[in-house]
Amino acid sequence: MKTLTKNHIAKDQFLKVRHKTEAICKSLKPEDTSIQPIEFVSPPKWHLAHTTWFFEQFVLTKYDVFYTVFHKDYAYYFNSYYENVGERVIRTNRGLMTRPTLNEILEYRDYVNKQLSEFISKGITSDIAEVIKIGLQHEQQHQELLYYDIKYIFGHQPSFPTLDTSIHLSSETNKQEFLAVPEGVYQIGHSTDEFCWDNELGCHKVYLQDFEISSRLVNNAEYIEFIDAGGYQDFNLWHAEGWDFIQSNQIEAPMYWHKVDERWMYYTLRGFKAVDNNLPVCHISFYEAFAFAQWKGMRLPTEFEWEVASEKVNYGQLWEWTNSAYLPYPNYKKVEGALGEYNGKFMVNQMVLRGRSIATTDNTKRPTYRNFFHADMRWHFSGIRLVK
Ligand SMILES: [Fe+2]
Repeated sequence: MKTLTKNHIAKDQFLKVRHKTEAICKSLKPEDTSIQPIEFVSPPKWHLAHTTWFFEQFVLTKYDVFYTVFHKDYAYYFNSYYENVGERVIRTNRGLMTRPTLNEILEYRDYVNKQLSEFISKGITSDIAEVIKIGLQHEQQHQELLYYDIKYIFGHQPSFPTLDTSIHLSSETNKQEFLAVPEGVYQIGHSTDEFCWDNELGCHKVYLQDFEISSRLVNNAEYIEFIDAGGYQDFNLWHAEGWDFIQSNQIEAPMYWHKVDERWMYYTLRGFKAVDNNLPVCHISFYEAFAFAQWKGMRLPTEFEWEVASEKVNYGQLWEWTNSAYLPYPNYKKVEGALGEYNGKFMVNQMVLRGRSIATTDNTKRPTYRNFFHADMRWHFSGIRLVK
């Protein structure tokens, strides 16, 4: 028998996270919210709807016998990739949906917020509270994606619109030190009662050789040295795939960088500016991070080295590329059903990033958190930490 509780999840906690999503979008115009400029960028309106569908699909429809769906077709429109729950609009077609309108989606959000708040207030089992918690963590991941996607939408149009936001990078000017970590057997993985994703579970031990890790991220001044030294023209520094990637896409600098009158400028969410030498370099692919490390005669940390060294370094501005492929830990267990599709099915052909970024909204700073992207992705807030 499941216990009924009103304490596992509070209505206020639920609404606070939901309203944060709307707050991120508050300075957008309706036209900004429908566009999908490239396959991996979803329209902000889609994020607003999809995060709402998640609660409707996995909580209200499943557990609230009195619930009536807001619209019978929204599951088809706003399911992302859950094969277990049926057909959906394919990812590349998200930007084709000018309907439902933004106002209709905001009404959808209000409806689900009200229904779920009432449902929580009646008392829910701890199992349902756990699914709601996953829904909130999911929404917070989409809040971060909203920052990436809005930046891409604004950063690829001539007027370079700005977003009303307080997030910004800080200087990484502290003297660079290389902090030693001794060889040894270390435990990897999440072991506390706090929330974590299933891909962090399965604690296990790894053996690490001695290594030294940089106390700070690579900054823009150092990255410009790499550019000026011909780093993007020297195939010896690159993986074959990376070399193909920069050649075929004519990449010679991080995403959002433009050379204007021999000076590097970049788009930020606060506008088009001169590149600040002291800020950490951002929006680079794994291929670029790897090539930069090669040029420095160093390397990227493995995800295990990163996790062990995390207490020594002040991380949190940018997701840090590691040299580890995204694979299941020993004893990894995929959750049964649709939510098992959340992480496990993506464990192929992607690289792990560790830490968090200024766009991460869940307030946690968890050294075991495993983010992952394909090696050519660079619209997310990614940076470089070196190891030698
Ligand atoms: Fe999602």
